[in-house]
Amino acid sequence: MRFPSVAIVLPFAGSALAWGALGHRTIGAIAQNYLTPATTQWVTSLLGSATLLDVSTWADDYRSTAAGTFSAPFHYIDALDSPPSTCNVNYSRDCGSTGCIVSAITNYTSRAQSTSLSTAQKTDALKFLVHFLGDITQPLHDENIEKGGNGITVLWNGKSTNLHSVWDTAIPEKYVGGNTATYANNWAKEIIAKLSTGGAYASSLSSWISCTNPSTAQSCAVSWATDGNALICTNVLKTNPAGQELSGAYYNAAIPEVERQIAKGGVRLAAYLNTIATGKASILEEEDGGFEPITAPSEEN
Ligand code: ADE
Ligand code: ZN
Ligand code: ZN
Repeated sequence: MRFPSVAIVLPFAGSALAWGALGHRTIGAIAQNYLTPATTQWVTSLLGSATLLDVSTWADDYRSTAAGTFSAPFHYIDALDSPPSTCNVNYSRDCGSTGCIVSAITNYTSRAQSTSLSTAQKTDALKFLVHFLGDITQPLHDENIEKGGNGITVLWNGKSTNLHSVWDTAIPEKYVGGNTATYANNWAKEIIAKLSTGGAYASSLSSWISCTNPSTAQSCAVSWATDGNALICTNVLKTNPAGQELSGAYYNAAIPEVERQIAKGGVRLAAYLNTIATGKASILEEEDGGFEPITAPSEEN
């Protein structure tokens, strides 16, 4: 049966303010796979039967409510660097007086671990962390220029849109085909296979989780933002995309980087939550039929 085209188009409508639902859901699904049993128990105590995938887009809905307006600047850090020649993030230069993704990660890390806040407050803190550890891997969430590319007009399949939206949504959705939980779970499975022994990402995994200790939340978050921001110079703005059609050669160069960023977000989120819940910086990976912890190398990155 052929569906009316509106049924196909509607799921693509949404916020141009964060990795779209597909990116966040895929990061949530990857992370869920690597949680230790103790972490799963802690997550369940706060989220009930909801999964990390289920709660991954909550922060984007919340920011557009009256009560959640304060959290809008928490989704990005506006690095005042000079791309494409110079890329960098400087916390004191870039974070801003109303907060940024780095200060938000630091704050919600401590709130999630609090012994005095209510369960509802700790649940919100966990949901913010699930979302922000995703957003920080989107290069344009680590860049100031034209409001993270929202002000750079480009073409996608001949239609006018903006560069930020292309990275949040159009590039991942062109690769995967849709943004529902089913699409996200399927993409997560492909990425988990690449992270497993012999897979394309296996040798990178330990470096991706090398800074995942909540006791050094701020410096780790700066290192993640710096890592995402580097792609602004090497990829996002390497050649000026303004006015260009991005669904061809630009997409081909971007998609491997987008998938790596989603993979990083997933394993970092798992390692981070595992450390919060168990004190040990590791993720649980399937090895020869059993599960073994993959431990992060001591502080580097
Ligand atoms: N608004 C201002 N800067 C932004 C950024 N880097 N990403 C998303 N929204 C923004
Ligand atoms: Zn966001
Ligand atoms: Zn965005």
